[in-house]
Amino acid sequence: MGLLQVVLCALSPALLRASPVRKASTDTSVVLNGQTFINKGIVAFGLIPSDAVDSTGDTLGGFGSAMAIKYRTWTDIGNGSFSGTLVAHPDRGYNVEGTVNYQARQHDIDFVLTPYYGTDDLSFDDAQGTLTVVYKNTTLQYERDDNKTTGLDSLGVRPAMAGFPLDPFADPQMPVPITIPNLSIDAEGIIANLDGSYWVSDEYGPYIYRFSGDGHLIQTIQPPSAILPRDSDGNLNFTSETDPSTGRAGNQGFEGLTFDVDSEIVYAMLQSATIQDGGNDSTTSRYTRLLAYDVSNPTVRPELVGEWVVPLPQSKKNKTRACSEIAFVSPGVFFALSRDGDGRGGDDLESSYKQADLFDISNATDIHGTKFDDPANPIAIDGELDADIIPATYVSFVNYLDDDQLARFGLQNGDEDDDTHINAKWESFSLAPVDDPDYPDDYFLFTASDNDFLTTNGISVGEPYDAGEDVDNQFLVFRVTLPSVVPGSVQRLLGV
Ligand SMILES: *[C@@H]1O[C@H](CO)[C@@H](O)[C@H](O)[C@H]1NC(C)=O
Ligand SMILES: *[C@@H]1O[C@H](CO)[C@@H](O)[C@H](O)[C@H]1NC(C)=O
Ligand SMILES: *[C@@H]1O[C@H](CO)[C@@H](O)[C@H](O)[C@H]1NC(C)=O
Ligand SMILES: *[C@@H]1O[C@H](CO)[C@@H](O)[C@H](O)[C@H]1NC(C)=O
Ligand SMILES: *[C@@H]1O[C@H](CO)[C@@H](O)[C@H](O)[C@H]1NC(C)=O
Ligand SMILES: *[C@@H]1O[C@H](CO)[C@@H](O)[C@H](O)[C@H]1NC(C)=O
Ligand SMILES: *[C@@H]1O[C@H](CO)[C@@H](O)[C@H](O)[C@H]1NC(C)=O
Ligand SMILES: *[C@@H]1O[C@H](CO)[C@@H](O)[C@H](O)[C@H]1NC(C)=O
Repeated sequence: MGLLQVVLCALSPALLRASPVRKASTDTSVVLNGQTFINKGIVAFGLIPSDAVDSTGDTLGGFGSAMAIKYRTWTDIGNGSFSGTLVAHPDRGYNVEGTVNYQARQHDIDFVLTPYYGTDDLSFDDAQGTLTVVYKNTTLQYERDDNKTTGLDSLGVRPAMAGFPLDPFADPQMPVPITIPNLSIDAEGIIANLDGSYWVSDEYGPYIYRFSGDGHLIQTIQPPSAILPRDSDGNLNFTSETDPSTGRAGNQGFEGLTFDVDSEIVYAMLQSATIQDGGNDSTTSRYTRLLAYDVSNPTVRPELVGEWVVPLPQSKKNKTRACSEIAFVSPGVFFALSRDGDGRGGDDLESSYKQADLFDISNATDIHGTKFDDPANPIAIDGELDADIIPATYVSFVNYLDDDQLARFGLQNGDEDDDTHINAKWESFSLAPVDDPDYPDDYFLFTASDNDFLTTNGISVGEPYDAGEDVDNQFLVFRVTLPSVVPGSVQRLLGV
């Protein structure tokens, strides 16, 4: 940072306070179930440099895979800023040249949010004063026998065994590399529980694990048979290198994980359709599944209490915009982060779809406990949904790629391939209250990107690497009006 930039950053809080409230004419809205949801645009941007390292010495990496605001850390400072701590999960380490023996971990990241409502375009450097993010520490994750978890591809299957709650098969068959018994985890979703534990969803199982705050496995949720990856003989095979014959497609596991704090339901959603539901082809893979587990009694095995079909958006060429995250808004209503793979660090320079959309399951068919939980009965064949199933209602809402909104924070979509270029892989959400008495239904929607550990100055499990490009970890905060939210529920989840 040059001296001039330091001066500008130091001045920016005053500049931010003085700025006028942005004209409502730039707001966009959508009506769902008779209620109007409003996107008031981007209010903050922040980043952590691509080559930052964690306390173990490894590159911090793509922690946007999963993110939550840690319980009881959200604070309205009262001077126009808010602070808190994010817990963020990277996925399975730098794996561009094959999976690595990377222990699953979560990072604590402190932030200060100073929303910017002005119409003037901030410079890229000034914009970073609106959301400062500072890495704090790392909690490594362990499984049974205090063994380390690993990121290595799981070519093997560990037999079911006793776990929690007490039951000889409470730990289901687990994904492990064939050479070692250690549990393979590719984490993609996180819920910060009120008791300090965390639910973490993964792509291999695809399973949902509960870890203690200090990183020890407590219990595992195994989804219905239709979702488990099976080979042509019906045996489990958790590899992510090839697609199974039925069940979740390779690397299309539980990307979405969220919590309804009032009913104590965990929701998990597959990134796109299972193989038998059309997931073997990107033009037929739009019908994905959302699952609901009742976790209200921590001493029993969580029960599957709901399952619905969510129709993901498609490109003009019918390519599915797979979904990288969900967030509970209110009973029946959820955010969905659906997108392409283009942008900084991605396939093409210019991205055509990155959105925080909404879907509503209130009229959708609950298929849990029906024949559709058996892989022999697909919900969709070649992309045609079974006529007996009503899918969720899916509507377009917050567009990340609005050029004017990006320009207010010095960002752009594909004009230049530099640090100001919006990242390809946005993968996480967190909601927090704005606390504005004039707009009681307004919330901040935090979202972060996964950079796939892409840096020219990296360290992977102690070894240096050069990924050929530098992709910073970008964060955005939108301000949204969510009229359906049960008053106080977002505050209860955050413990404020
Ligand atoms: C509010 O106070 C915090 C903590 O001192 C500071 O980091 C932040 O910049 C302040 N915000 C404004 C708008 O002055
Ligand atoms: C659910 O169905 C009712 C009655 O047909 C309709 O008014 C409402 O808009 C539908 N909601 C959604 C989200 O599809
Ligand atoms: C990280 O910091 C938090 C807050 O200071 C603390 O509670 C936690 O124990 C720390 N974790 C590690 C692994 O040091
Ligand atoms: C497996 O776990 C054991 C016990 O924690 C550890 O010593 C070993 O390094 C782990 N192996 C791998 C490949 O992670
Ligand atoms: C899973 O499939 C891979 C690739 O086909 C194979 O190498 C591996 O042995 C299989 N594992 C099991 C447990 O069948
Ligand atoms: C933990 O690792 C040890 C040493 O490799 C192994 O003997 C033991 O079976 C592992 N535990 C589990 C639950 O896999
Ligand atoms: C996907 O599976 C369906 C149903 O088995 C089949 O008709 C289709 O040809 C497959 N598509 C690809 C690309 O393999
Ligand atoms: C997309 O799907 C629709 C409906 O199945 C079909 O009519 C159309 O031809 C497809 N378009 C392309 C480009 O494949």
